Amino acid sequence: MISLIAEHLPAFLDFSPGPVEEIRVFFAPGRVNLMGEHTDYNGGYVLPAALALGTYLFVRPQPGSRVRFASSSFSKVVDGQLDSLQYQSEQDFANYPLGMLSELQNKGYELSKGAAGDYYFVGNLPHGAGLSSSASVEVVTGYAASRLLNALIDKADIAVMAQAAENHFVGVNCGIMDQFSVAMGKAHHALSLQCDTLEYAYVPIALEGVTLVLANTNKPHSLVESKYNERRSECDRALEDLHRAGLTYPNLAAISVEEFAQVVQCFSSEVVRRRARHVVFENHRAKHAPRLLEQGDAATFGQWMHDSHVSLRDDYEVTGEELDALAQAAWSVPGCLGSRMTGAGFGGSTVSLVRTDCVSDFMETVGRVYRERIGYDASFYQTDIGDGVRELTKEAWLS
Ligand code: GLA
Repeated sequence: MISLIAEHLPAFLDFSPGPVEEIRVFFAPGRVNLMGEHTDYNGGYVLPAALALGTYLFVRPQPGSRVRFASSSFSKVVDGQLDSLQYQSEQDFANYPLGMLSELQNKGYELSKGAAGDYYFVGNLPHGAGLSSSASVEVVTGYAASRLLNALIDKADIAVMAQAAENHFVGVNCGIMDQFSVAMGKAHHALSLQCDTLEYAYVPIALEGVTLVLANTNKPHSLVESKYNERRSECDRALEDLHRAGLTYPNLAAISVEEFAQVVQCFSSEVVRRRARHVVFENHRAKHAPRLLEQGDAATFGQWMHDSHVSLRDDYEVTGEELDALAQAAWSVPGCLGSRMTGAGFGGSTVSLVRTDCVSDFMETVGRVYRERIGYDASFYQTDIGDGVRELTKEAWLS
């Protein structure tokens, strides 16, 4: 971490010349979701964890109302004024911090009282891997601005504002899972979150001798957003069908596994019925999986990961051949306790539980099978479960 900051400091000083002492550095992680996919916008449970990889943000506060954004991954510098923050597609990555600042202003925070200045982003999350790099950028910006203003905004509230920024400013209709886990994550713990009430609990990941391995399909991004929105409207339709039948469920996750058999005739099409079935069973897994983690029952947890992937493949239809190739190859490797896609799907990454002594064989075998089947390489990451958004003290990086 310190070496990464030292490595990028010269580029920041090029972008924003001035005394090093004025600089503040913040970090927000990416996330991996262990269980509960496409349940967040259906009012259900999710079980994500924050990664040690994420987004570093260097800020030099400046008087006035000018904000400038740059990133080590893009050549563009975006210049704005706090009283006219607007979405423009050519602003690229800068739309995420702009959206976050705009949302803070909507909530009444006066950003010109300390949060104007130069913002420089350095990310070490793999791009397009479905590990929430955009939520990481939004949340780190919101947290940094709140600290620059000396405003004590709860991290959970920053997450809610970041989701609003993504929904209304950037125009992506995501749920709350990514922003919440990036803001609230805790090292060595998963976060069991009920997305309707935002009640949460930290669950220790006590899996002795087991390593979490992420595998990125490296599939070029395509249609993720439109397919995601399609699934959301199919879920809306499923709920309307239930309401039309006189059932008053507030959301699909409110249906229990037992009740599902009784309401199954209410759905107006086979597709809608399958989407609802995924949500009900996936929510059941996400709600009860924390118990397995606490008991260190990696074998059952792994079986549920398998069931989750199959449900996302067959009922929710968000996997695609790249994610299926990775998961299927993983299931047959000795020492792999479970594997599933993580995040929205349609590309992105899988997460696998692998016995630590089998990790290199796992990466070798799954990598080879994937290349043979898909024609290009997957990338593998072993990353720790880290803390949520925070400021890095000057003592930690300025030595
Ligand atoms: C994306 C969204 C989340 C969630 C997942 C699917 O990551 O941003 O809100 O819906 O997909 O579980």
